[in-house]
Amino acid sequence: MPDSLIPQTTEFQRELLGWYRHHRRSLPWRDAPSLYKTVVSEFMLQQTQVKTVLPYLARWLEIFPDFAALAAASEEQVVKNWEGLGYYTRARNLHKLARALVALPSPPRTREAWLELPGIGPYTSAAITSISFGTPAAVVDGNVVRILTRLTADGTAFRDSAAASKALAPLADALLNRAEPGDHNQAMMELGATVCHRRTPLCTVCPVRPYCAASRRGEPELYPRLAPKLIEQLAVTRLWCRHQGKLLLHRTAGDARRLANLHELPALEHAGLGESFFAGDTPIATKKRGITRFAITESIYAIQAAKLPRGTADRPGLVWVTLTELEAITLSGPHRRWVTELLASEP
Ligand code: ADE
Repeated sequence: MPDSLIPQTTEFQRELLGWYRHHRRSLPWRDAPSLYKTVVSEFMLQQTQVKTVLPYLARWLEIFPDFAALAAASEEQVVKNWEGLGYYTRARNLHKLARALVALPSPPRTREAWLELPGIGPYTSAAITSISFGTPAAVVDGNVVRILTRLTADGTAFRDSAAASKALAPLADALLNRAEPGDHNQAMMELGATVCHRRTPLCTVCPVRPYCAASRRGEPELYPRLAPKLIEQLAVTRLWCRHQGKLLLHRTAGDARRLANLHELPALEHAGLGESFFAGDTPIATKKRGITRFAITESIYAIQAAKLPRGTADRPGLVWVTLTELEAITLSGPHRRWVTELLASEP
């Protein structure tokens, strides 16, 4: 029975909170908290680890110190300062959120009202309102799913992590410390990040081990049971075209899905070239990366400008960028690395 922990809820909460107060990492959104820092950090942390987020957050807070400064910024500035964090929809949503909040007399304080705001979902609404306003809303993210399924040795095979989060929300809620919901939520995240690791959980130092059915059985790694992600292989061919000190790039116009002004090495379709354009040639670089459920292999081919079909560089979205301009424009993280590497290897 998955809810067998509930009679010991008070002890569980006390051990968890006591541990958190002693062992929590010192983090900017904890040491001198504000609503703004909480919101920005929760957006950045949604798909990115704490250690990656820290330098971005520090710079962000200097450039956009509050909601008003962020709301007043252009989308281009916002994107530039998100460069390297990836999943740019978060930046666009954060920008929209800042604009929505400054249009209100004061930020809302209930979870329901936050859920109406741009980019806010079940996780962010619970995290923000519990941490900033003491609202009794339990967060359920990947860390929490791991902890809860282990505590209860819940062997349910979940379709994906969203399904697991939904199924575990009632248990998360039942365990929530309603007197200290913000610290309780952060304690769960902290436990997941620093002790209850996916592969090698550190049960010997775990403050809630006495309540953990999976640890008692000696097999915490079995939980949660998530269906393996279906990974789709994707091949992308890109151009490396240098001409008179410039590099040919593609700039996104920005639509419902993508942020404007992100630059990338042009893909074949940006240049209006067919699939077989480089057939038989050898790429100057082959790069692999994963985005959500795609495993992408990117093959980059060098081509002289004179060998491009007439009119190619005038196609919408294609731009010649000088090497001095490169620093100032926004390249997505991997493209920044590839461009730097390829420029360095030029004869
Ligand atoms: N991940 C998401 N939110 C977090 C927080 N507030 N502290 C640590 N890790 C997190």
